[in-house]
Amino acid sequence: MSHFLFLNASTREPGHVGNSETLARHAAAGLPAGTEQHWLKLAELALPPFVDLRHTAGTYPMPEGDARLLLDQTLAATDLVFVSPVYWFSIPSPLKTYLDHWSGWLRVPGLDFKERMAGKRLWVIATSGNREKAQAMFDSYRLCAEFLGLQWQEPLWGKGGAPDAVLADSAALAAAQTCFSLA
Ligand SMILES: Cc1cc2nc3c(=O)[nH]c(=O)nc-3n(C[C@H](O)[C@H](O)[C@H](O)COP(=O)(O)O)c2cc1C
Repeated sequence: MSHFLFLNASTREPGHVGNSETLARHAAAGLPAGTEQHWLKLAELALPPFVDLRHTAGTYPMPEGDARLLLDQTLAATDLVFVSPVYWFSIPSPLKTYLDHWSGWLRVPGLDFKERMAGKRLWVIATSGNREKAQAMFDSYRLCAEFLGLQWQEPLWGKGGAPDAVLADSAALAAAQTCFSLA
């Protein structure tokens, strides 16, 4: 049974739905009935700044609080969906911090993070002003997927801007309908 974890990286204020989430909700509507799905907005979680201990302590303790919640949700998922605006041609900081924590989770004794991540599928649903200039962000996510043996899926992109702008991108909405059809 598939278990989709949607990680929303938008920094819109609480209660405000961004374009990336709007597009991702259209895609999620096409998930097969009974597919488990869980949504988290990263900016509303208290993920601490990442600290590089690789060449001092060398290992990390099991995370606590919201970091532990994210770790547990990540490991429980068969499918990770990065719901990601493009910020400065790159990965938004809430999602970048989450990815930095993967470096710590790789070094939690006994966790076997890398082995347990291998084979999960990684989807990216993004909005921004320009598809071509989103490519660097997609390439970064794809390289992260390859590093951990995740199955990279073709990204879904829509034209964003002000809230609901993506609803005018009929090609993106049509692509969203079938985005997860093979899931
Ligand atoms: C800090 C910041 C940086 C941005 N940088 C870019 C960018 O480099 N390229 C671009 O096309 N749009 C950029 N945008 C616009 C957003 O990608 C666009 O409005 C997107 O739809 C926002 O997603 P959301 O509605 O899900 O929050 C930026 C927006 C913000 C707030």
